[in-house]
Amino acid sequence: MYEERVVSGMRPTGALHLGHYHGALKNWVKLQSEHPCLFFVADWHALTTHYESPEVIEESVWDMVIDWLAAGIDPAQAVLFIQSRIPEHAELHTLLSMITPLGWLERVPSYKDQQEKLTERDLSTYGFLGYPLLQAADVLIYRAKFVPVGEDQVPHIELTREIARRFNHLYGREAGFEDKAKAAAKKMGSRKGKVYLQLRTKYLEQGNAEALAAARALLEEQGNLSVADRERLFGYLEGGGRMILVEPEVLLTEASKFPGVDGQKMSKSYGNAIALREDAESVSRKIRTMQTDPARIKRSDPGNPDKCPVWQLHLVYSSESTREWANQGCRSAGIGCLDCKQPVIDAVLAELAPMRERAQKYLDDPTLVRNIVADGCDRAHKLARETMREVREAMGLAYT
Ligand code: TRP
Ligand code: SF4
Repeated sequence: MYEERVVSGMRPTGALHLGHYHGALKNWVKLQSEHPCLFFVADWHALTTHYESPEVIEESVWDMVIDWLAAGIDPAQAVLFIQSRIPEHAELHTLLSMITPLGWLERVPSYKDQQEKLTERDLSTYGFLGYPLLQAADVLIYRAKFVPVGEDQVPHIELTREIARRFNHLYGREAGFEDKAKAAAKKMGSRKGKVYLQLRTKYLEQGNAEALAAARALLEEQGNLSVADRERLFGYLEGGGRMILVEPEVLLTEASKFPGVDGQKMSKSYGNAIALREDAESVSRKIRTMQTDPARIKRSDPGNPDKCPVWQLHLVYSSESTREWANQGCRSAGIGCLDCKQPVIDAVLAELAPMRERAQKYLDDPTLVRNIVADGCDRAHKLARETMREVREAMGLAYT
């Protein structure tokens, strides 16, 4: 149960592009073979900002899953699902809202930032304020250890940690906790139980982090404990009550400086994006007409790669020797911009070709995608139900 689960979500607001691939998806593809991963379509999150145009969301949901599969997400490794198909996310959101101070939400930077930036939308809604708490529910419901996200999402995961701590503090303090924890330690077997208690003392009295890690590892491999006992032992280890919700950590995805064809950050709303399933002709055309160093007007003018977005693409795609060739050729006006762009065009096309190919299978037979998602929803649902049983009981809602 305490395996190092990874959870992340993406809002369905249009076709995914190279910025998404280099900024997030490529990392998901790597993670799926290293951890149990859950990736979901955050359709409720999309509604918090796009409540007036839900048709965009509806159109994008399946396309986004196809984009994920095209990019190499493997449904045999990762669990793919849709947030709104797991109503327990909403239930946990409601329950967590009871213990969330308003100030914690108002202080999240994206709350004010986005309201100021997206002036064409009215974001003074309850849903938008609660957005980060819904995100906390998404993560906590799977007891995720890691959340791969970009810099902008870090405050949301911080909030998630604070909520988990507050929840455990409020509801992990059951009557007779200490005795129950000791009884649980006995159930580990007399030798292991003793080692656990010794490691705990070492951690609590001397702050020995290795002892904490060793004790956690011991608990992780202990197969015969009930969920409640396991939570008690994890919590007791750190001197608190039951650890019902797990504090997740950010797996920071390096900010993608992937430029759009106008040199600004690639974004669908700027109209400068190259979609993952865009056809080769259009991709080539976009890069051929892409902005270059504005000072390089004529072929005979030397240029400066540092002022050219194409150079950013060389940094992503080109080998050392190709970069050297482009850098030299640019500064000496030895090559033209079209020459310089050709290796980038070739590299982007080579990256996208297998994606288009993988996507074709799903476009030809849409039931494949529906089945993958149905299966993912089933698997996610099981995990979510397990956590909710504990949460309801802890909050006094398990009436019999
Ligand atoms: N808020 C995230 C974004 O805009 C999407 C998201 C929703 C998410 N729930 C999540 C990411 C849970 C990680 C974990 O990108
Ligand atoms: Fe940019 Fe290359 Fe042209 Fe230099 S030669 S301005 S790096 S596209």
